[in-house]
Amino acid sequence: MNAPTPPPSFRHARPQQLAEALQAARNYTLALFDGYAAQGLDVPARVPQLAIVNPPLWELGHIAWFAEWFILREAMSTHPTAAQRPSLLSKGDDWFDSRLVAHRSRWTLDLPPAGALKTYCREVLDRVLDKLSREAATDAALYPYRLALAHEDMHGEALLYTMQTLGVAAPLQFSRADLAPAAGGARFDVGYPGGTLVLGGGQDSGFTFDNERLAHPIYVAPFRMDAGLVTNAQYAEFVDDGGYQNAQYWSAAGSHWLMGQERSSPRYWHRDASGGQWRTVRYGRPATLAGAEPVRHVTLYEAQAYCAWAGRRLPLEAEWEYAATSGLAGMAWGSLWEWTASPFEPYPGFAADRYGEYSAPWFMSHQVLRGASRATPSRFVSARFRNFYMPERDDIFVGFRTCAL
Ligand SMILES: [Fe+2]
Repeated sequence: MNAPTPPPSFRHARPQQLAEALQAARNYTLALFDGYAAQGLDVPARVPQLAIVNPPLWELGHIAWFAEWFILREAMSTHPTAAQRPSLLSKGDDWFDSRLVAHRSRWTLDLPPAGALKTYCREVLDRVLDKLSREAATDAALYPYRLALAHEDMHGEALLYTMQTLGVAAPLQFSRADLAPAAGGARFDVGYPGGTLVLGGGQDSGFTFDNERLAHPIYVAPFRMDAGLVTNAQYAEFVDDGGYQNAQYWSAAGSHWLMGQERSSPRYWHRDASGGQWRTVRYGRPATLAGAEPVRHVTLYEAQAYCAWAGRRLPLEAEWEYAATSGLAGMAWGSLWEWTASPFEPYPGFAADRYGEYSAPWFMSHQVLRGASRATPSRFVSARFRNFYMPERDDIFVGFRTCAL
């Protein structure tokens, strides 16, 4: 059987492909939103006020607002006066500009009800698709469409991991993150000869994020890296060996974080009633913890502590990109985002893009993750993409692989 042809990357998608992808992304957003609504969580006041969560109603409006801002209103930056024309919503900017609307206040805005916001979403998408049908198929003309698609895809993944965070049943057909990832099992690592790698995007045509520029050559020393992600069974050995009780495995920041937790195993792990087998929770429901699946929902600190215990280390982001683009067989990725050893820093020659708050505010405080998760649409998957989160995030679909010291 031939493998199905993967859809084109959003980075190179042409107008017709972009139109289909924008519609597919919106269908996904709405299906997840309806999953929240079925639990009464379409009303912001009923959504737990957590720093890692947005009220789904706010997120729905924000997604459409973002597309309207950059495509229909033709803003060339995020400056409040950058839009060429007003929003279709009387208070669109007051409600949905993530730069202006403080996170805490997203629970108490006087937002329109879900039905009215869905009408706004439909109106924006209709106009976007109409405008797109008249665009030239150039990277410059398609830039805001590709940006808006990437933005909606990122929020789509967030809407799914927030279901895990809040214990909301995910619509089954969309809980892609629950598809069994490739089995790991016994560790085997792959040797890479090293050499010069051109790190970053922009080496050919298509969309690049500002943090992927400028592409620049760097030297990667020879290294050995796991072919797959660390599994639950491997991580359980660390837990059972007292890994969370032994300070020698934890960095200073990791120890500090751990002291603020009541944790002796990853978030969502618990022993079954007999105290024997590890069990977990998926979207609010009890589930078995399959030993051969990658460990997920771990912080950077936990990944680092495991490495210290195992006599291994996390890969640098350059090593990860080298391996993923090397063409050498053996590296499996794409089931979970992967923590790297690299803090999120600008590449030489960095300049913020028209979405000015995408990268620049987060340099140094965040850590780079590479890869993709099962919740990432395949059109978005890229070996050069730099994801970034705070080290203590464990609500996202994240795991890790290790390198030999
Ligand atoms: Fe956003």
